[in-house]
Amino acid sequence: MLQIKIAPSVLAGDFARMGETVRSLEENGADYVHCDVMDGNFVPTITFGDQMVRHIRPYTSLPLDCHLMVLQPEMRLEGFARAGADVVSVHLEECRESIARTLRLIKNYGIKASAVINPDTPVEKIFDVIGEADMVLLMSVHPGWGGQKFIPESLSKIEKLRNFCVAAGRPEMDIEVDGGITEENVKDVISAGANVIVAGSAVFRSADMRATIRRLRGE
Ligand code: DX5
Ligand code: ZN
Repeated sequence: MLQIKIAPSVLAGDFARMGETVRSLEENGADYVHCDVMDGNFVPTITFGDQMVRHIRPYTSLPLDCHLMVLQPEMRLEGFARAGADVVSVHLEECRESIARTLRLIKNYGIKASAVINPDTPVEKIFDVIGEADMVLLMSVHPGWGGQKFIPESLSKIEKLRNFCVAAGRPEMDIEVDGGITEENVKDVISAGANVIVAGSAVFRSADMRATIRRLRGE
């Protein structure tokens, strides 16, 4: 049985107090800290880079799950490795045919390697890198902003991916889903086959972060 992990996105957090923001996620029972790295080129928004990851590292023992929405992510890997990242996700749309090599480069730093696809990318496009990846991240919104609505077609992509992983002998593959996930739709996301749940707005807008994280996990 796959463990359900909740990965709140700090994009919805307080950038002026990111250390305390990250510490509060651990205190309130999160499993990962989802760090949305955006360069203003791959996506229009600019958020932060490996410097921020380095500065928040001492505030938590939780895995730092770095989602690189950047051009040429292979050029950034050493910086995130040195900063203390535990998982690095790179977009197929940017890496294209070199994604397997980039995933190997990430693993060479002793970091978990994750491949990401956007909502418009057919899930079949990621099938041939399953062997190289420790996790697959399926975007359920178009990347660049928090607070968007969940794209319902994502559910069939999750199901297809989980079925493919089981058939490929990788039933334990972590499938992370990212964008627009709330307490109302999380059960559908998990029953479709996802086990790592990114939630920014749902967690940071909550009056009771601990209770929301527990409910997202299905407790
Ligand atoms: C969007 C980011 C998502 C987003 C999730 O580009 O990758 O992680 O911050 O935020 P919510 O949960 O508010 O949709
Ligand atoms: Zn993200």
